[in-house]
Amino acid sequence: MKIDAITIFPEYFSPLQLSLLGKAQEKELLSITVHNLRDFSTNNHHSVDDTPYGGGAGMVMSPEIWGSALDPLMLEDTDLIILTPAGKVFDQQMAQEFAGSSHLVFACGRYEGIDYRVGEYYSHPQFVAQSIRVHEVSIGNYVLGGGEVAALVMIEAITRLIPGVLGNPESLAEESHNEEGFLEYPNYTKPANWRGIAVPEVLLGGNHALIATWRAAQAQVRAQKCD
Ligand code: ADE
Repeated sequence: MKIDAITIFPEYFSPLQLSLLGKAQEKELLSITVHNLRDFSTNNHHSVDDTPYGGGAGMVMSPEIWGSALDPLMLEDTDLIILTPAGKVFDQQMAQEFAGSSHLVFACGRYEGIDYRVGEYYSHPQFVAQSIRVHEVSIGNYVLGGGEVAALVMIEAITRLIPGVLGNPESLAEESHNEEGFLEYPNYTKPANWRGIAVPEVLLGGNHALIATWRAAQAQVRAQKCD
């Protein structure tokens, strides 16, 4: 999978070099390129935004600069993800869908967001014909300072689903068993008694069928508590 992220704060993406994601890039399962939007600004101050038509607070990011940054990345078979609190809320199912993509481009807006025409433009039939798909995505119903953290969250959730990225592929298999909105069962490790709290008895015996039943029930209890 190839990932491009466009931002005015490339430093936000340095955690992608760590841990399993760093290793996945070394193994070439994944290639992540971060682009500085300011490099595409042609004015003297390298500014990327302007005042909103119709008035109102804040600034809006210029479609011209976004167009210059995005054009070279809009290759055949690409998912363009525009991060915005007004987008469709990201979840595990969406992560699964994006994990099957060959090229993801994350457009990280700041201020009052990116001029709306950018998403409209890359949705035109000429781009649809090249299998370019535009998605407006939010990671939750709250407003962040910009799309960078949202892109990081999405990249982590999506890339761990790519075969070979996770150290232990069995963890993925267990998650997919719990697909129907179930959260995972509670986990315990040694010691068997910690500060007076004992590990549930069933986990200490070796009855795997009983353990599986207990875990399924616990996962359901947890899911209900979250409703
Ligand atoms: N930008 C600001 N808030 C956001 C959110 N909740 N999700 C995605 N992008 C955002």
